[in-house]
Amino acid sequence: MIAAPHVPVLREETLGLLAAGPGRRIIDGTFGFGGHASGLLEAGADVLGVDLDAVAQAACRELAGRQPCLRCHHGSFRDLPAALAGAGWDAADGLLLDLGVSSRQLDDPAKGFSYRADGPLDLRFDQTRGDTAADLLASLDEAAIADLVWKWGEERGSRRIARELVRRRIEAPIATTTQVREAVQASLPRGVKPEPVLSRVFQALRIAVNDELGSLADVLASLERVLRPGGRLVVISYHSLEDRLVKRFIDRERRDCVCQPDTPICVCGHHAWLRPLTRGAVVASAAEQNVNARSRSAKLRAAEII
Ligand SMILES: C[S@@+](CC[C@H](N)C(=O)[O-])C[C@H]1O[C@@H](n2cnc3c(N)ncnc32)[C@H](O)[C@@H]1O
Repeated sequence: MIAAPHVPVLREETLGLLAAGPGRRIIDGTFGFGGHASGLLEAGADVLGVDLDAVAQAACRELAGRQPCLRCHHGSFRDLPAALAGAGWDAADGLLLDLGVSSRQLDDPAKGFSYRADGPLDLRFDQTRGDTAADLLASLDEAAIADLVWKWGEERGSRRIARELVRRRIEAPIATTTQVREAVQASLPRGVKPEPVLSRVFQALRIAVNDELGSLADVLASLERVLRPGGRLVVISYHSLEDRLVKRFIDRERRDCVCQPDTPICVCGHHAWLRPLTRGAVVASAAEQNVNARSRSAKLRAAEII
């Protein structure tokens, strides 16, 4: 059985860790279609819903019409200080980041996130600005395309794929998801299953187009300005590149000293300002994984500002 797409991943764990309740101001930095935000509102929290996607923002405004405790901001979570100012909040008690792409975005061929449907090679969360994946594939040289596929998709066949894309773009610009799918399939050695490779290539394009890891690094760097003391961060990630970044950030900021291990006396002057709320990463229960395939790759980490 497949769960309804609006059932948010790790819902109960998220609401519990954010201590959602009356009087708490919580930013949902990835509003999507409001699954987590609805739970936060039901618990009595005030919510600021942020999303880059115009359709997600329309969903936020529609819900805000019925929910006076919800405010909406169209923009990136990397600019949360501006979003807070717009909402008239000085700081928040919680921040949720449920990273990546929503199932509804994946199902919309006009966004180009999925290799399964033919559509324009766009892959921007915010289709009103920035370069599309087609722009990227038109402007980068072969080595840069291979690096992108290797770095953000961890795809070992990156050089072969880049060579095939560049060979094909001489004949016609690569402008659709189908063209990328055909180029990737043509580059594969016999016997290699195309789906996992296609999934890694589209992940790489999406991460690059939206500067996803740069945005995540920026929001983590702004955390002390966004959350008040006692404020809580919850991040749900779906691939190891994001999860590693969050894990290393929490590991560093929980320490009083971040000097190299062989330094005899501390010279860094660093002070701990985060307390982890989870031991390692929380994963979805077997029951949730059974009904919601997307939850299988989810890893949740949480921390509190000291
Ligand atoms: C996995 S979905 C969130 C689903 C949501 N938690 C729910 O319950 O419906 C991720 C959402 O984050 C948005 N997003 C991705 N990067 C973003 C960024 N840098 N700033 C704001 N929103 C972003 C996407 O547009 C997408 O709607």
